[in-house]
Amino acid sequence: MRILVCGGAGYIGSHTCVLLAERGHEVVVADSLVNSSPKVLERLQAIIGAPVAFRQVDLRDRAATASLFQDTHFDAVVHFAALKAVGESCERPLDYFDNNIAGTIHLLQGMKAANVRRLVFSSSATVYGDPDSVPVREDAPLRVTNPYGRTKLVMEQLIGDLCDNDPAFHAINLRYFNPVGAHASGLIGEDPGGIPNNLMPYICQVAVGRRERLRIFGGDWPTVDGTGVRDYIHVVDLARAHVDALDYLLRAERSATINLGTGRGVSVLELVRAFAEASGREIPYDIVERRAGDVAEVYAEPGLAHALLGWRAQFDVDAMCRDAWRWQSMNPDGYALEPGAPPGAA
Ligand SMILES: NC(=O)c1ccc[n+]([C@@H]2O[C@H](COP(=O)([O-])OP(=O)(O)OC[C@H]3O[C@@H](n4cnc5c(N)ncnc54)[C@H](O)[C@@H]3O)[C@@H](O)[C@H]2O)c1
Repeated sequence: MRILVCGGAGYIGSHTCVLLAERGHEVVVADSLVNSSPKVLERLQAIIGAPVAFRQVDLRDRAATASLFQDTHFDAVVHFAALKAVGESCERPLDYFDNNIAGTIHLLQGMKAANVRRLVFSSSATVYGDPDSVPVREDAPLRVTNPYGRTKLVMEQLIGDLCDNDPAFHAINLRYFNPVGAHASGLIGEDPGGIPNNLMPYICQVAVGRRERLRIFGGDWPTVDGTGVRDYIHVVDLARAHVDALDYLLRAERSATINLGTGRGVSVLELVRAFAEASGREIPYDIVERRAGDVAEVYAEPGLAHALLGWRAQFDVDAMCRDAWRWQSMNPDGYALEPGAPPGAA
């Protein structure tokens, strides 16, 4: 199939491009590069062994988004393009509504006009908020707690309405738990701008000497060791699920909403220990006050992904830490420098 990958220069999108190419699909990346580097495209070429077609387009621009479909027919779209920082979404909710929701509407309009009727959409476990029980199933109550989460929920709903309205339009909403890790080549990985919002990139930056100490928010949660428990999933496992979802759309011609997690909860301290083991580096940390809005324990019931897509996570926490560390140690400043440069040389 020829696949349009919106947000394909980002962390999860770039890994998905690799898996799509490996399975013989033709990939066109559309990305505004608001949160990614053009170097990703060079790295993708190095991994895949062929150039990846790229269009620099901001989905907020309706005409530019429509133009993606003008000369090229796509069999399906995978839609990663979004802003994703919870704290920033509380400070700039309108920017999040505009970028994530308006951008998605323009994309759906472009697809509809060009008769492209298969979509795989990046949703998030954030739509569950603080769940009543774990593991979390797809039919758990949805209660978003911040503007970012609301954009994900609204986008799921818009896509659902479109599926109801057009029986030939099918979409898979994939609700990711906590993506971590990197491609085994060490050439692509997570490169957040500024202070990382997520735990793994923060640990990586402490390990590589870019930050002094890790701050762990809360040591008194009702969990195995008092720190928060999450469902970490290797980004390559996550990427594979997108390819499986496209196969499902082609085969079953049905829509679905599916959790992507391992089904296993891992505490912050367990992750820190596994990372120290994988990297051979000490991760100094302080346990500080809980953060407003955080929850004790969230992990997935991943059975539906297996039932519908035949997908199961394959990588364990040790592999996630090993691959995250390989990426960070080969690229101490992320995409700012060539692989192997010492930290701070930018
Ligand atoms: N990483 C996570 O922890 C996580 C968890 C759950 C869901 N998600 C979702 O998965 C998707 C991908 O996340 P990621 O971690 O790869 O993020 P990312 O920021 O690395 O990738 C997103 C990409 O989309 C691009 N983009 C953003 N707005 C755009 C626009 N208007 N037009 C064109 N391109 C645009 C960015 O430049 C970036 O390359 C996002 O939708 C995110 O909400 C991520």
